[in-house]
Order: sequence, then structure tokens, then C-alpha cells
Amino acid sequence: MSTTLPAPPYSRKNPFPAKLLVNQKLTLVGSEKETRHYEFCLEGSGLQYEPGDSMGIFPKNNPKLVEEVLHALHFSGDEQVTTKEGQTFSLRQGLLENFHITSPSKQFLELIAERSASATELKELMLPERKQDLEHYLWGMEIIDFLSDNPSVRITIEEFVGTLRKLQPRLYSIASSLKAHPEQVHFLIATVRYESHGRSREGVASTYLADRLTEDVPVPMFVHVAKGFRLPDPTMPAIMVGPGTGLAPFRAYLEERRETGATGKNWLFFGEQRHKCDFFYREEMEQMQKLGVLTRFDTAFSRDQAHKIYVQHRLMEHSKELFAWLEQGAHFFVCGDAARMAKDVDVALHQIIEREGDKTPEQAAEYVENLRKEKRYKRDVY
Ligand SMILES: Cc1cc2nc3c(=O)[nH]c(=O)nc-3n(C[C@H](O)[C@H](O)[C@H](O)COP(=O)(O)OP(=O)(O)OC[C@H]3O[C@@H](n4cnc5c(N)ncnc54)[C@H](O)[C@@H]3O)c2cc1C
Ligand SMILES: NC(=O)c1ccc[n+]([C@@H]2O[C@H](COP(=O)([O-])OP(=O)(O)OC[C@H]3O[C@@H](n4cnc5c(N)ncnc54)[C@H](OP(=O)(O)O)[C@@H]3O)[C@@H](O)[C@H]2O)c1
Repeated sequence: MSTTLPAPPYSRKNPFPAKLLVNQKLTLVGSEKETRHYEFCLEGSGLQYEPGDSMGIFPKNNPKLVEEVLHALHFSGDEQVTTKEGQTFSLRQGLLENFHITSPSKQFLELIAERSASATELKELMLPERKQDLEHYLWGMEIIDFLSDNPSVRITIEEFVGTLRKLQPRLYSIASSLKAHPEQVHFLIATVRYESHGRSREGVASTYLADRLTEDVPVPMFVHVAKGFRLPDPTMPAIMVGPGTGLAPFRAYLEERRETGATGKNWLFFGEQRHKCDFFYREEMEQMQKLGVLTRFDTAFSRDQAHKIYVQHRLMEHSKELFAWLEQGAHFFVCGDAARMAKDVDVALHQIIEREGDKTPEQAAEYVENLRKEKRYKRDVY
């Protein structure tokens, strides 16, 4: 009798080392962005996920930045360090894998302010009443800037490491259905690159994946369950608003509904800057339309004309039909930018209900509140 051992329970504490299968740039020539499609192999992990879940990924820092930090502090990198948890490794390895070495912690800023005679501006900004000014000053400033600007400051390894926070995993919405891609997980990720204070900066995890990963280096990852962002009953309609990387979970939803033969109608709103170079998964979505999985598909390309067209403008254009879907019990999903898009889409939703339901602003707010209570208004925004 053959016995199969149960798969080890992979989790945040015991992440699964997944190997890269595909790293494909989706944005084309003319785009101002770099957004990529990734596929990872989960074979042998036993990992299960549902459309709507995210994956936590443990990144590594850029070795070039690690060497710059070591050089600025006059450390060789071979020195041994021990963490609060009792782990011992070389300082170089710690800076690569264990510590957050980009944005500075409060303790690090206090140390620089205390040790550097020239850090007068920082000292003033550290006063409690200057909290907002400090935040403004710190936007785009990293540990390396303070070290380079204060070369005479001497800090011991213990002091430096004592100010560093732990490098945290980053969450990414899962862009695939296990039913369509058994033992795989897919992502849609915007690579973070920007300039500040005369230096080129990089988002840690998004550039780790884009630039520093090869097929033979596994990436530790774990499933982050999102029970509140699940597909409804297979017969219920779904309205999905997913501009930019917000499209990711809806690719997973549509794949799942195709694979399971779910009969519920699906309406997708996607937005990006330019049709020509930022239309991710265009062919797949067109195929979903042909198959009848995607009942309606509306796009908003913000920079193809002089004035901005955003997803909420498309929602408003179709307000009558959209309200009818809501009245039929549709679930309303939003994924992507929290700071601007999700707020504006929320305003549009209220306006649609007011206009098409012939309601006062208070009644529309109550309608939206009921959608929330019935778990039919679901957001995954970041
Ligand atoms: C539930 C959830 C799901 C997510 N899903 C996705 C997804 O599917 N796809 C995706 O791409 N992302 C997704 N994200 C975002 C993702 O987790 C990371 O936050 C993102 O990739 C950046 O991580 P990073 O390590 O590359 O950048 P970090 O090293 O964390 O750096 C980002 C920081 O850089 C700073 N910064 C960025 N731009 C500038 C600028 N122009 N000027 C100055 N400072 C700047 C900001 O402080 C910002 O917080 C999701 C987040 C959550 C919470
Ligand atoms: N925390 C982080 O480190 C981090 C890292 C990466 C991304 N993010 C967040 O994730 C978001 C997603 O980034 P992304 O590259 O996928 O796409 P995005 O920046 O959200 O852009 C997608 C589309 O949304 C448009 N848009 C801008 N403002 C909008 C608004 N108020 N309402 C509706 N649409 C609007 C954009 O148009 P225009 O560009 O023409 O205005 C673009 O056409 C970012 O905006 C950012 O907030 C966070």
C-alpha cells in the first residue's frame, strides 16, 4: 500500500519556495509604465487559493544598494550580526534579506540627528509639532541619503542594525484560477521606479521580481486569504472595476467562471493610460467576450485624448444599465489604487444610484450601505 505524505503546511512562517516560469513585460513601446505578467510554479506545495486571494512575497534588497550602504558606513559586510529573534548571519546577508534598508525608521533619524552636527534641519523637523513637515521632507528620502549627506557620522554595527526594521513581504493579488492553471499562480505587477533627490529609486519587491529573479532562484511566498473578496454565487451578476493592476483579481474571476461554467453575467471596467501600449491581457479579454463569459467590457484610456477619461466616467455613461444590474442582485467589485480611484468610483456609484433610482443623496448612501451589509460591494484597494 502506498502512502502519500501530507504536503507541509506552507504559511507566512513557512513560505513555499516557488520557481519563476514566466516574467513578461506587458506594457509596450510608448508606455510610461512597466507592468509585468508573472507565472510561478506551485508544484508539490499543496497550496490552494481562491480567486480574490493575494499572495505574500518575500523580496530581497538590491545588492548594489547594500554595497552602497556598507561603503557609506565603512563596514566590510562580513561582520556577524544577531537579530532580536536570535538569528546570526553576516551583515551583508542581513542587509540583503532581513532588514528594510530603503525608507528610514524613526530610530535611524534620531540617531543621525543626535550624531551629526550638520543635520540641523532634520533636528528641527523631529519636533512633535513639525510632524507633517517631516513627512513631506521624507518623501522619496532613503537611509542612503542620510548616510551620504552626513559622512562624518560614525555608527557602530549594533547601533545601525538596532535602528532597522524587518523587511516585510509584499502582497500581490492573484491573477489566475487554479482550475485554469493547476499548480501555478500568476500576477500582474507594476514595477516601481522613480527619481528623487537626484537618485534613481526602486520599489524593493517589484524590482526584485522584474530585474533580479532567475528561473533557478525560488521566491518564498504564502497565500493571504481574502474571504471578503470572493466571487458571488455562480448565478449572480458581477460588476468588476479594475483599472491598472486592479485588473489582476478579475482575470482570476473570469477564468474561474469560464472553467466552472458559471452562468452569472460579468461586466468589466478596465482603465489605463493608452490603448496602444497599456492594454493588458487584451486578447484574453476579447476571447472571454467571444466565449460569452464577459458579458460587457468597457475601457477608459486616460491619455488617448486631451481630457482624462477614467473608469468612473464609463460607469456614469452606462448608469441606467448598471443600476439595473444592481437591482438584479449584482455584486460590485473594485480593485486597484486606494488613494484616488476607489474614492472617485465610490462617488460615481452614489451618483448612479441617486440618478437611476430616483433617490436623495441620503437614500443613495443607505442603498450603498445595504450593498456593503449584504457583502455585495467589495473592495481590494492599495
Ligand atoms: C492586498 C494588496 C494587493 C496588491 N496587489 C497588487 C498587484 O496585484 N499588483 C501590484 O503591482 N501591486 C499590488 N499591490 C501593491 C504591492 O503590495 C506593493 O506595495 C507594490 O508592488 C510596491 O512594492 P515595492 O516593494 O516594489 O515598493 P516599496 O519598496 O515598498 O516602495 C514603495 C514606496 O515607494 C515610495 N514611492 C513610490 N513612488 C514614489 C515616487 N514617485 N516618489 C517618491 N516615493 C515614491 C512610496 O513611499 C511607496 O510606498 C497590492 C497591495 C495590497 C495591499
Ligand atoms: N504602495 C505602493 O508602493 C504602490 C506601488 C504601486 C502602485 N501603487 C498604487 O497602485 C495604484 C495602481 O497602479 P497602476 O500602475 O496599476 O495603475 P494606476 O496608477 O491606478 O493607473 C491606472 C489608470 O487609472 C487612472 N487614474 C488615475 N487617477 C484616477 C482616478 N482618480 N480615478 C480613476 N482612474 C484614475 C490612470 O490615469 P492617469 O495616469 O492618466 O491619471 C490610469 O489610466 C497606483 O495608483 C498606486 O496608488 C502603490
